[in-house]
Amino acid sequence: MSRIPCDQTAAWKALQAHFDGGAHALDLRDAFAADAQRVQAFSQEAPYLFADLSKNRIDARTEALLFELARECGVERYRDAMFAGDLINGSEHRAVLHCLLREPTPATPRGADPLGLQRAQVQTTLQAMLAFAQRIRSDESITDVVNIGIGGSDLGPQMAVQALSEHVTAGKRFHFVSNIDGHELAAVLAQLDAAKTLFLIASKTFTTVETMSNARSALRWFSSHGGRDVAQHFVALTQNTQAAREFGIDTVFGVEEWVGGRYSLWSAVGLPVAIAIGADGFRGLLEGAHAMDLHFRSADLKSNLPMRLGLLDVWNRNFLGFASRSIAPYHSALRRLPAYLQQLEMESNGKRVDTDGRRLRHGTAPVIWGEPGTNGQHAYFQMLHQGSDVIPVEFIVVRHRTHALQGHHEVLLANALAQAHALMTGKADAQGHRDFPGNRPSTFFVLDSLTPQSLGALLALHEHRVFVSGAVWGINSFDQWGVELGKLLASNIGERMLTGDLTGLDPSTAGLMRRLK
Ligand code: F6P
Repeated sequence: MSRIPCDQTAAWKALQAHFDGGAHALDLRDAFAADAQRVQAFSQEAPYLFADLSKNRIDARTEALLFELARECGVERYRDAMFAGDLINGSEHRAVLHCLLREPTPATPRGADPLGLQRAQVQTTLQAMLAFAQRIRSDESITDVVNIGIGGSDLGPQMAVQALSEHVTAGKRFHFVSNIDGHELAAVLAQLDAAKTLFLIASKTFTTVETMSNARSALRWFSSHGGRDVAQHFVALTQNTQAAREFGIDTVFGVEEWVGGRYSLWSAVGLPVAIAIGADGFRGLLEGAHAMDLHFRSADLKSNLPMRLGLLDVWNRNFLGFASRSIAPYHSALRRLPAYLQQLEMESNGKRVDTDGRRLRHGTAPVIWGEPGTNGQHAYFQMLHQGSDVIPVEFIVVRHRTHALQGHHEVLLANALAQAHALMTGKADAQGHRDFPGNRPSTFFVLDSLTPQSLGALLALHEHRVFVSGAVWGINSFDQWGVELGKLLASNIGERMLTGDLTGLDPSTAGLMRRLK
């Protein structure tokens, strides 16, 4: 689907005029003073969560023009094309159907459903995977589950198992090994008993060097530590079933080619989550994400949270010039969420050409980073309040606590509110080093409780907002060619490390290789 470059639309020009004509200087303090309805106008209920966008540097006109931009860029049509299974991942000739993975079982067979085959496959794999998860949960001889995978085959499951730790009822220990750095695998293996360990080898391609090296080392360790039945102790989660079988693994759960790695938590790659929280819990995660899918598909632009957020991201990046966004989950169980969102947004939208390969003249994905609050407050919030760059912050809080400690949760929530308030209001002081400029934007998300459903909804919300900004920018958010060159060179340099051949290398790399020898 060829799309009009966003910066050549009438809406973009109108946004630029609006920006130049005064919106660049919008001051949040004045905006709140002038408009008693601002909070209502820029708040949004969505499935399982609430978002307050009012502390962002937008006004009603900005949003109206952003909706125009979305219309001119065909964002809704593009969204519908994704859900319809069109090959919107053009550079890989693939459909983008991760949303299918969270659809509930169709009540009646769909006669002429063009995605009927995929739907049937999804249900077959899901049922088999959940049955397996339940079996492992009740198998007391398995005490440890080790997920070996990287990128999307690690970040999602690892983040979700941590986030839902209150719901983990498996009575087992979960380990995640991603890095080729042997220190990581060695430290995990040192805690294990081969006879009591289940290894999950998660790799969509089953070719990723880190994962295959770790899997081979795990297999060698297993055999040399009295492990006997590989079939019972190694499982593969992959699209490349043949490679998994050649590796010697019989139990394989398939990942469809139309699921991108960073969108694969909902597929068989979610097996560690299903073992940890059980089949019902995993279905709850899918349910929350599906509810957000329905919201994204059906809500009018004006009340569609992923649309509003994705368009706000465009405004922040391309007009206000904010090149970074900080994620502040005020819940320690969400500590891996920033890393997960980092891959989601930066691997999806970190591109500088459009779907037709044309060079873009505007910025795309911002740098996504963060740490849980309140820890971040004592590390880098200094820069957020008084640094030379304005960095929008996203606060994520959970209303209800699940621990019994008195006083903590109130203070935690108060801190999130105080930080957002301080960023916006600032504090004038004649002494420069005590002066807080304020007018620093933030978005505030509230989940009632941290459950499989609310986590599912939160993650799907972010997938869709990334889709929206990517769609406006006209880029393919579903490929990741940018990681290929590094992989190629790592293999070339790896061979040179063995042979010592430095010919043709740049002097810096050659010098470093000599030093590392
Ligand atoms: O190199 C990047 C990447 O391709 C990610 O997109 C992906 O999530 C990760 O590697 C792991 O890939 P695989 O699941 O095929 O091992």
